[in-house]
Amino acid sequence: MAAILKPNAESLHRCADALREGRLVAVPTETVYGLAAHALDETAVAAIFAAKGRPKNDPLIVHVDSRADVERVADTDGPAGNALDRLAERFWPGPLTVVLPRRERVSDLVTASLPTVAVRVPAHPVLRTLLKECALPLAAPSANPFGYISPTTAAHVEASLGERIELILDGGPCAVGVESTILSLADPARPLLLRPGTISRHELAETLDIEIHLPERSAEDTTPEAPGRLSRHYAPRTPLVLVPHGEPFPSEPQTPAIFVHFARQNGPLPPHTLGRVFSESGEVSEAARGLFALLRELDGTGAAAIYAEMAPEDGSGLATAFNDRLRRAAARA
Ligand code: TXA
Ligand code: MG
Repeated sequence: MAAILKPNAESLHRCADALREGRLVAVPTETVYGLAAHALDETAVAAIFAAKGRPKNDPLIVHVDSRADVERVADTDGPAGNALDRLAERFWPGPLTVVLPRRERVSDLVTASLPTVAVRVPAHPVLRTLLKECALPLAAPSANPFGYISPTTAAHVEASLGERIELILDGGPCAVGVESTILSLADPARPLLLRPGTISRHELAETLDIEIHLPERSAEDTTPEAPGRLSRHYAPRTPLVLVPHGEPFPSEPQTPAIFVHFARQNGPLPPHTLGRVFSESGEVSEAARGLFALLRELDGTGAAAIYAEMAPEDGSGLATAFNDRLRRAAARA
């Protein structure tokens, strides 16, 4: 059992001390909970990989307090720095991770030996206070065992990592619910969208006034250019079957079945089938906020299959990210 701490001056102090001493703390962010360690302490970073069972070829995101603090881990002289300034101005603090040339002092464990490091300035007020209090760059992957569904509450972290970590800082349910957009500026002349998130490809292109490319490698690829793109990466144990938005659900599902419509429906369900919805309001933001919690909950029901309706592709970053996470959850190993 980990200690689940409500944020106050004393608990933030305790978490900051733990981080300075090289221990792990699970922390809230606006996207999902992260498992944080002092990013420049190699032993502390190694403990993250051990706790998650994460392969060493999967690099971590470093969380810093401000654009200025990016300099502690990344080299932003040159064109990548100009692009970063524009992005930071518009999107930070917020759910955007930028991949930049690394500094020597950052351990190969953080970067999976790549010449780059991924950095973001998170928006969650509790984590922002902790970053100020500890004054350290914090390496933090999502606080789930490798390959399982990302956590969006302190209770999710406790349920899957509670035996392996000491401290969970409880900042309430995450407001966004899917992980940050990842943009690589490794080649500033050819920015690459490595992971879709709330901040869309279109918004990034508009901000940088340049086309944003998608990686050429297939989503099946397992090489470390963007390991978060492993096709199966957010998976419940129960088989998940996708239903395109607005299409009919199967009339003879594998039962017991769960039908998750995108928004409230009034039609009849087949026998031995339970009905749920991603969003009562029909809004993608509500669906995304609850996605991982619902997958966790339904994974524990003993259903033979979960049938899930995708979000309408409305061009928003969040709809693209929601459908991306659903596809990954549905991909079979
Ligand atoms: O919203 C988020 O980004 C959350 C919260 C906790 O901040 N973090 C998160 O971390 O989703 P994680 O470890 O689950 O995903 C990090 C991904 C890696 O799997 C990889 O795809 C990419 O970030 N990444 C990290 N460093 C990279 C690098 N140097 N080059 C390319 N991709 C990198
Ligand atoms: Mg993750």
